[in-house]
Amino acid sequence: MTTVSLIGPGRAGRSLAAALADAGCDVRDVLTRHDDVTSAARGVDVLVIATPDAAIAEVAARVRPEPDTVVVHLSGALGLDVLAPHPRRASLHPLVPLPSAEVGRVRLRSGITFAVAGDPVAAELAGVLDGNVVVVEDEHRAAYHAAACIASNHLVALMGQVERVATSAGLDLEAFVGLARAALTDVVELGPGAALTGPAARGDDTTLERHRQTLDPAEIPGYEAGVALARRLATERAVHDSAATDRCVTDGAETGATLALTSSDGAGRPEARAGGRRPRRAKVMRVVASAQEFSDVLDTERALGRSVGLVPTMGALHAGHIALVERATAECDVVAVTVFVNPLQFNDAADLAAYPRDLDADVAVARSAGASLVFAPPVEEMYGAQPARMASTVHVEGVSEGLEGASRPGHFDGVSTVVAKLFALSGRCRAYFGEKDFQQLAVVRRMVADLSIPVTIVGCATVREVDGLAMSSRNTRLEPGQRRAALALHRALRAGRTCVERGERDPVRVTAVMTAVLVAEPLVTPDYAVVVDPSTLECPTEVLGEVRLLVAARVGGVRLIDNESACASAAVSVRQDRVLVNTGEER
Ligand code: PAJ
Repeated sequence: MTTVSLIGPGRAGRSLAAALADAGCDVRDVLTRHDDVTSAARGVDVLVIATPDAAIAEVAARVRPEPDTVVVHLSGALGLDVLAPHPRRASLHPLVPLPSAEVGRVRLRSGITFAVAGDPVAAELAGVLDGNVVVVEDEHRAAYHAAACIASNHLVALMGQVERVATSAGLDLEAFVGLARAALTDVVELGPGAALTGPAARGDDTTLERHRQTLDPAEIPGYEAGVALARRLATERAVHDSAATDRCVTDGAETGATLALTSSDGAGRPEARAGGRRPRRAKVMRVVASAQEFSDVLDTERALGRSVGLVPTMGALHAGHIALVERATAECDVVAVTVFVNPLQFNDAADLAAYPRDLDADVAVARSAGASLVFAPPVEEMYGAQPARMASTVHVEGVSEGLEGASRPGHFDGVSTVVAKLFALSGRCRAYFGEKDFQQLAVVRRMVADLSIPVTIVGCATVREVDGLAMSSRNTRLEPGQRRAALALHRALRAGRTCVERGERDPVRVTAVMTAVLVAEPLVTPDYAVVVDPSTLECPTEVLGEVRLLVAARVGGVRLIDNESACASAAVSVRQDRVLVNTGEER
């Protein structure tokens, strides 16, 4: 049986004395440093000096050396030199917080790690306590101890800041403890680089600035230190990832379902744009065709505490799609793009057959914009052998029935059915849709609200060519003359908006103004030009507040749509060519 005496009955000393006794050691004396310690090493196998670091050397010097007794200190930072003049020296530093002797007694025997150095007795004591050991030599002790303090003390101090900031929002610390635990679990399972999420890692400066504006000035230095650390980790991760990707590409790019790509340029597609900020490039792009796998991957991401962004598309990705992916990347931890040319929403077989398909190019564009997952299922994966024989489909009454719904019967049933299926597979997420297809956005919003689907719909502004033409995969089918003529849609919307802003309150007159612009262009055959309520898409009897102007027309054989918002100012209205100002007084 190992015999032990200790000097220093503080938390660490009493914890260790109790734990060693529990583990079967013969614990003799527990002295204070003010006692006469001259003979403390006599007659025991081990003498532990458990005083504060600053006192160790002085206490050790007062103990008469014994040739067979190992003198051990519990300091993380100090080397063995402080134990001179004892011939057998060791250090034993438990990597665990010891908040009290009662807790410490249990914790020291719970399979923790001890940093040891010097005489092998230190490792033996760790073994007696069922612990693991790491050997840390003198020259590394300071760095080792700094790491230990960051891992325990700084983490606790950070949680202190969490508590203060939470209190300022009227919340308890308790609400955030689960989050901290999950983050730590991720660190253990994935490593810090892969575990890092949040605005600093995403480069979302707008959100960081909003935080700063709300924080008490006294919290800012600590907060900035955290942001700087997160940014550093994100940069290191990016460097590491790009090295890994380059290696992967050199090795032949594809391994299982993981596809690494050099750059979107290589595929001849546009590089992602980000309004000045270069978007994050996903380290490896995962491309899956299986619905189950798509679902599983996103379930795993959520289980790891990551938020999911979803961008449903039919491929042929252009700058309009890229804007959705970039917005999703800025707002979510993980972004999935779906690429599926949905047969259910085409009422013309030739149109379906002619739809452009180039998955490799789409994967490159999606990755460049920040997505890390592309779901590109074959038709049978979504609908079985016969899509037309689906027994259950989704029909959104009202909002899907006029306008595009009238011109393309069944189109929105196909859209809402496929989007509902994609949401069922993706699970809880934020889903990004373009305002370019304004009616589609309204249909999806209505479906999600009516069916309580746990997906947040985010509408994104229309991306246009420099001359104003709304980006669309159909634009490539326009001849040069048709391309010029197609600008009439944008001009019509501008004319309609100006009309509303100048006070026109009669929707019929606004429609007439827009139609006149469309028919003035010989290559354009208008389908509709309307003023609608932005949520119901019904035509109002009077233009009040915010309205949406929608146009559709054929240009050659290509059907184009576009829309714009217009706001009727309360201050000015035109009625029958007379202007009413503010109070309704005529001028
Ligand atoms: P698709 O035409 O590929 O469009 C995918 C998404 O990109 C839609 O939300 C669409 O509104 C958006 N988008 C297209 N052009 C845009 C532009 N110029 N500016 C901003 N966003 C733009 O819409 C579909 O696919 C399908 O109907 C789908 C929803 C995927 C269901 O099959």
